[in-house]
Parts: sequence; C-alpha cells; structure tokens
Amino acid sequence: MEFNEVLSKRRSIRKFSEQPVDRSLLLSLVEKAALAPTASNLQAWRFCIIDDPALVRKVDLFSPGLSGKPPVIIAVCSDYGYALARGCGENYKIYGCIMDASMAAENLMLAATNAGLGTCAIKSYNEPAVRKLLHLPETLHLELLISIGYPETEPRMPRRKSIEEISFFNTWEEKGNE
Ligand SMILES: Cc1cc2nc3c(=O)[nH]c(=O)nc-3n(C[C@H](O)[C@H](O)[C@H](O)COP(=O)(O)O)c2cc1C
Repeated sequence: MEFNEVLSKRRSIRKFSEQPVDRSLLLSLVEKAALAPTASNLQAWRFCIIDDPALVRKVDLFSPGLSGKPPVIIAVCSDYGYALARGCGENYKIYGCIMDASMAAENLMLAATNAGLGTCAIKSYNEPAVRKLLHLPETLHLELLISIGYPETEPRMPRRKSIEEISFFNTWEEKGNE
C-alpha cells in the first residue's frame, strides 16, 4: 500500500473476524514498532503478544474499552527497571516511556493496516487485573493495549479538524491570538 494510503486507511476497528493472525505476521508488526524513535535510543518498550484465545477473553473481560472480539491483543509495556538501570530519572518514567510507547504503537498500527489487519488502541482497562493476568513484574509498566485482527467492518474516518484549526506558524500571535 502506498504510504499516504496507509495513513488515511488506518481506522480504529471495533469488530473483528474470527480468522487467527499468523505469529510471524505479529512478530513483523513488532519489528516495525521497534523502528520508531525512542528517547536516547533506549528501546525500553516490551511487547506482550496475547494470542491464546482463553487469555484474550480474560483480558477482554477486564477491558471495558475493548470491543469487537479481537483474536489478538498486544500489550505495550515499558521496562522501568531497564530504564532506571541505564540512568534514566523519574521524568523518563513520567514522560519518556509514554512517548516512546505511543510512537511505537502508531508504527505498529500503521504496519498492521498495511498488512490488511485492523487495530484499536485501548486505554480503558483495569490495569491491576490485566497486569495480573499477564504476570507482569513490578518493573514492567503497562502503557497501552492494542487489539488486532482482520476487520469485519470498514468504518468511515471520524471527522478531523481542519488544518487551520490545528496549526499555526511561528508564534501564537501570528495566528491572530492575543
Ligand atoms: C491513547 C488512546 C486511547 C484510546 N482508547 C480507546 C479505548 O479505550 N476504546 C476504544 O474503543 N477506542 C480507543 N481509542 C481510539 C480512539 O477512540 C480513536 O482513535 C478516535 O476515535 C479516532 O478514530 P480513528 O482511530 O478511526 O481515526 C483510543 C485512542 C488513543 C490514541
């Protein structure tokens, strides 16, 4: 798919078919996620690929934001232990990890779109319950879930703000603001 087409075709998918997703394809998505930039090239993200149907169902049960019965969920985590051992301060935990995880997540979702898959970023989940299900150690912080599967629907793009609304050159005043 052409790059601009991938950008505009990616939609949040909330209805998936039962077709399983090949593990090699899932790993290739993580590979694309790992091409994203990270602060100080730290690469502290860790990707938990959940494709065991029973475990997917359990995570689903504790994730009110998740819908459409995806066959796969990827939990994007940050390894705080790894980051702190490499001299990162508390600020990295607060800001760096989230930004690194977000950039990797977008790469992953775009790569999935390019492969004919649908995804949805999910932030509404019961964090302690999902952590427990995945047996995450204290040092791994859960940043985001991404549901993945073959889409059953092709939703229209929700309205986007106009370029005038969201951009300005140089200074806030130049936009006509006080
Ligand atoms: C950080 C983040 C958290 C989100 N959490 C949820 C969620 O819990 N449940 C859900 O259905 N969609 C969630 N979404 C998807 C947004 O609702 C969606 O991206 C937005 O409506 C725009 O639609 P589009 O992705 O199709 O362009 C989330 C998106 C982001 C970036």
